[in-house]
Amino acid sequence: MELQVAREWIVAASRIVGFTGAGISTESGIPDFRSPDGVWARNRIVDFQEFLASEEGRIEYWRQKLANWPAMRAARPNAGHYAFAELHEQGKLLALVTQNIEGLHQRSGLPSEMVYELHGTTTEAVCLSCGDRITSDEACRRVESGEKAPRCRLCGGLLKPATISFGQSMPIDVMEMARAAAENCDLLIAVGSSLVVEPAASIPRLAKRAGARLVIVNRERTPLDGMADLIVRGEIGTVLPAMVGPATRAG
Ligand code: APR
Repeated sequence: MELQVAREWIVAASRIVGFTGAGISTESGIPDFRSPDGVWARNRIVDFQEFLASEEGRIEYWRQKLANWPAMRAARPNAGHYAFAELHEQGKLLALVTQNIEGLHQRSGLPSEMVYELHGTTTEAVCLSCGDRITSDEACRRVESGEKAPRCRLCGGLLKPATISFGQSMPIDVMEMARAAAENCDLLIAVGSSLVVEPAASIPRLAKRAGARLVIVNRERTPLDGMADLIVRGEIGTVLPAMVGPATRAG
């Protein structure tokens, strides 16, 4: 029933915004954050203030990065990512707003200019002083060879994965583009997010307030379920392609 309604709404829509969280990438082998076996069940959070203030905090942060980088690097898009690529090919996707940092939406074929990475990207590391960027492969090689909290080779500043940590300000330009897309869409499909982290979770709310239909696809309940027009419970890699259409490619 819900799948049929979702399909009808997708057929009727012309300006769809996808909003995704870590749940869309678990079927690609990347753990999410708040499931029982998620990242925060196994790691303590190092927030931005601690990263800036403490060498021990930076060492722990890079230890976690080194542990999760191989799975991120090896991951391939799954049928959930390809379902959004399909919407793009049908000319229906206005933008893809993601909290994810591993770049699988871009690897599924979405042009990078339509993927708004609210929480940055883990594919690079950035110097917090001069802004110089190196690849995460290069940064992890340096950590593996003993530089437990690597510094910028140009200016000696702190190197950090180019993701947004708790307490770190969000990229203003990306948030503005995400807000504009939410205000101009006719359907927002929120997929694989617990919708508990702000201000990211304000994007689906904004779309709903601006008159769009809100569909939430998630295994578990979220705080926005009460305002959603439709909730689809199930495994994303199965339900999303069923909502979007027949053309889904192997992951
Ligand atoms: N199918 C359907 N739902 C799934 C699947 C799946 N295959 N895998 C996971 N989920 C659901 C989980 O039940 C959970 O509700 O996806 C949701 C993922 O929620 P989180 O782990 O909280 O991830 P996310 O919402 O992206 O977290 C937001 O928190 O820690 C920060 O910066 C981090 O961007 C992240 C932000």
